[in-house]
Amino acid sequence: MNFFENYIFRWLSIILVWTAVDANVFTPPGRFRQSSVLVGNKLHFFGSQNLAQIRDNIYLDVTLSTLNTTNPSWFMSESIPAGFALASACIGGPNKNTIYLLDRFTTNDDFSNYTIVYAFDTVTATWSTPNISGQIPISRQQFQAVDDTNGKIYMFGGFKYPNASFDAIQILDTLSLTWTQGSNVSAPTQRVDFAATFLNNGLILYMGGFSGVGTIYMSEIPIYNTNNNSWSTTIATGDTLYSRSCHTAVLSPDGYVVIYGGGNPSGPTYQENQDQNLAVLDTTVSPYQWSIKPMIGDNIPPTIAYHSAEIIENIMIIAFGVMIADDSFF
Ligand SMILES: *[C@@H]1O[C@H](CO)[C@@H](O)[C@H](O)[C@H]1NC(C)=O
Ligand SMILES: *[C@@H]1O[C@H](CO)[C@@H](O)[C@H](O)[C@H]1NC(C)=O
Ligand SMILES: *[C@@H]1O[C@H](CO)[C@@H](O)[C@H](O)[C@H]1NC(C)=O
Ligand SMILES: *[C@@H]1O[C@H](CO)[C@@H](O)[C@H](O)[C@H]1NC(C)=O
Ligand SMILES: *[C@@H]1O[C@H](CO)[C@@H](O)[C@H](O)[C@H]1NC(C)=O
Ligand SMILES: *[C@@H]1O[C@H](CO)[C@@H](O)[C@H](O)[C@H]1NC(C)=O
Repeated sequence: MNFFENYIFRWLSIILVWTAVDANVFTPPGRFRQSSVLVGNKLHFFGSQNLAQIRDNIYLDVTLSTLNTTNPSWFMSESIPAGFALASACIGGPNKNTIYLLDRFTTNDDFSNYTIVYAFDTVTATWSTPNISGQIPISRQQFQAVDDTNGKIYMFGGFKYPNASFDAIQILDTLSLTWTQGSNVSAPTQRVDFAATFLNNGLILYMGGFSGVGTIYMSEIPIYNTNNNSWSTTIATGDTLYSRSCHTAVLSPDGYVVIYGGGNPSGPTYQENQDQNLAVLDTTVSPYQWSIKPMIGDNIPPTIAYHSAEIIENIMIIAFGVMIADDSFF
């Protein structure tokens, strides 16, 4: 099977990164629940739920002018100093080129009760464990943190085994290396495995996910306003989407949040999931509006979950994950 195919849609190109079989530098094995971050022309992937790749730090050269979709350039970099799974990575630092992992493992791979931050300097390819002041938040899993592209990282949701869940926003300022707590007033119910997107106007949208206490509807979108640290909820109009978790979201340059994949084990059938694989939320209108997008082309990608997605100009790159149809990794 062609491991790296280019799927062209009417309005956006999507490149699906299959497990590479003949990459020119090195071939990464399949993985799922990894975290990804784009710095310049390097798309970094960290960790996996597969223990064999739990310290993996690999990247793909995604320079669009030279990207060869049948022979992408994969590289392996310095291993993470600790296991990294079900956690989240963001960009920060004064030059916006340091990657911060919000982890829950120590370097001995013991669970920590408090979030441990590992920093990867992408220029020197070195790891450090910055000493961060303020009240260190409880460690957690199955959340997606987002950054504001100006040094602040916002962490919401997730849970800590066996029973702790979170609703307040925790804010890591990577310039002053300080943790502070944002607002929990009118915060949404606890949730995991949602997709979060930071809009250019400073709003963070939390889409979908799973909650132990009732269904999370895709139309009901909690919003955290980073300009004045406040929560609100908006009800999106347009198409009705199935509830889902373990999907991804990216922001297009023209203000659409593009979501892909994910699933709902007790919900729709595989075919129904497939029919709603790709949807966009128009954030340029009020209220926001969902529309399900047809997937057009010869090579329609499968329904996947536990993958990662990033956007480079108008190209969305979906990587790895689990194929919902047969539970296989790629
Ligand atoms: C892309 O890679 C394939 C496989 O290695 C190779 O046959 C092809 O010539 C490359 N295309 C370009 C434009 O370099
Ligand atoms: C983490 O918290 C649990 C429950 O409160 C406690 O039993 C355990 O000792 C703590 N672990 C560490 C390393 O402090
Ligand atoms: C953090 O503090 C510890 C103990 O004071 C120290 O050993 C370590 O070098 C510091 N790390 C950094 C990155 O400054
Ligand atoms: C979670 O479990 C621990 C240990 O069983 C218990 O002490 C604690 O109160 C529980 N917390 C919640 C929020 O239920
Ligand atoms: C909200 O945050 C405040 C300040 O940290 C805390 O005292 C309070 O218990 C929190 N409330 C809830 C419902 O979590
Ligand atoms: C925050 O700003 C939004 C948008 O301007 C406004 O609607 C909201 O009332 C503000 N919230 C607070 C707590 O100031």
